[in-house]
Amino acid sequence: MNVVLLGPPGAGKGTQAVRMCEVFGLKHLSSGDILRAERKAHSELGRQAQDYMDRGVLVPDDLILAMMMEHISRCEGGTGFLLDGFPRTVVQARGLDERLGERGWKLDAVVDITVADEEVTKRLTGRWTCPKDGRIYHELFSAPAKAGVCDDCGEALTRRKDDEPDVVGQRLRTYHAETEPVKTYYEDRGVLRTVDGGGTADEVAALTKEVCRT
Ligand code: AP5
Ligand code: MG
Repeated sequence: MNVVLLGPPGAGKGTQAVRMCEVFGLKHLSSGDILRAERKAHSELGRQAQDYMDRGVLVPDDLILAMMMEHISRCEGGTGFLLDGFPRTVVQARGLDERLGERGWKLDAVVDITVADEEVTKRLTGRWTCPKDGRIYHELFSAPAKAGVCDDCGEALTRRKDDEPDVVGQRLRTYHAETEPVKTYYEDRGVLRTVDGGGTADEVAALTKEVCRT
């Protein structure tokens, strides 16, 4: 099964992706996480993406498509993949469809996690992430047992630079202008499923599982 998780910044795509990949045995491919790893490795791609990410705008489509197709093609022979944060423009969605079609692959479900702007802003400004294993926390909604430390590996938690309030505002504007039209693209193709992302992480996981199975 191949799945896409859509939704605004802070909707809980990363949180739900980990759960869905466990349940369905999928490979988790987060465009944001891959870009952050490229930056950490000081690669040419990481260098090119840096300024866009820090400003809360999108990295150019051609760079993203090439990067994601490289990771997707490694899923050959597996049980499927889950795309988190990609595609984010109609150009990326069309490019993905074309390239999957060339391999005889397709998307089985595109899950749009809907959450209001005010709620995602609260979620992003309280987010902490483990830089070692990527586990996502929230200081109020899913706090680690010991403040500032990852429950799993003991690493010190960090804040994402693009979670500063002014950058969050820009990321939301970018989402409404460039990513919302992707929903219509998938709706027209009959694969869009909508999930209310306003409940607890467990409630959203139950809804997401259900729509992936239908
Ligand atoms: P990316 O890393 O993809 O960021 P994003 O889409 O803005 O989404 P986030 O990762 O911030 O949020 P999330 O939905 O994963 O929420 P999370 O689960 O962490 O992209 C970053 C940048 O990279 C972009 O701005 C762009 O520059 C570039 N980029 C990436 N992909 C690109 C592409 N395809 N094209 C071009 N450029 C691209 O949850 C958030 C917080 O809420 C956490 O603290 C969590 O604990 C908490 N939480 C989660 N669920 C719940 C819940 N149900 N209740 C309460 N709290 C919750
Ligand atoms: Mg994420």
